[in-house]
Amino acid sequence: MQNDIKEVLYSEAQIQAKVKELGDQLSVDFEGRNPLVICVLKGAFIFMSDLVKAISVPLEIDFMAVSSYGQSTQSSGVVKIMKDLDVSVEGRDVLIVEDIIDSGLTLSYLIDVLEHRNAKSVTVVTLFDKPARRTVDLQPDYKGFTLPDEFVVGYGLDFAEKYRNLPYIGILKPHVYEK
Ligand code: PRP
Ligand code: MN
Ligand code: MG
Repeated sequence: MQNDIKEVLYSEAQIQAKVKELGDQLSVDFEGRNPLVICVLKGAFIFMSDLVKAISVPLEIDFMAVSSYGQSTQSSGVVKIMKDLDVSVEGRDVLIVEDIIDSGLTLSYLIDVLEHRNAKSVTVVTLFDKPARRTVDLQPDYKGFTLPDEFVVGYGLDFAEKYRNLPYIGILKPHVYEK
């Protein structure tokens, strides 16, 4: 598996330090608001788990599974809800947790859905951002790292469902997805 990684972009230690920094800032900004923190499955599951431990104010969590990529390296542009939230977002301060923003299609769809369900506020935190790939106008409220336009995996991000368990983020060797 390690052999499929061309280059490590951010190490486990660098990611953990950034998550702590984001958690500290979110703890200040969400004080007294009891946010509903939504993990966008599957990719965000590791970031979500580390991030909520770094947030020191009361909060609630829920999960939503959406998929636009399937087995491909290209977004299909069609976002499907595979699993919806268990609770209502009406009147809630919602914090969406994403692993990466690429085209922005997944999040713009999700923000739309949550606003239509009358969330009080919708805030986005992403660990990784690839602004070069954006096709819709969307800026995260909080972000960890800006990435180059390379196919990256690890820390929740997959290629064909693999590599999510790597504790770092790295660039996949092209031969892996070109074969
Ligand atoms: C990936 C990633 C983001 C989304 C970003 O999810 O986890 O959710 O794509 O791309 P976008 O900005 O172009 O929409 P994916 O659809 O691969 O599902 P997964 O999280 O289950 O891997
Ligand atoms: Mn995802
Ligand atoms: Mg994926």
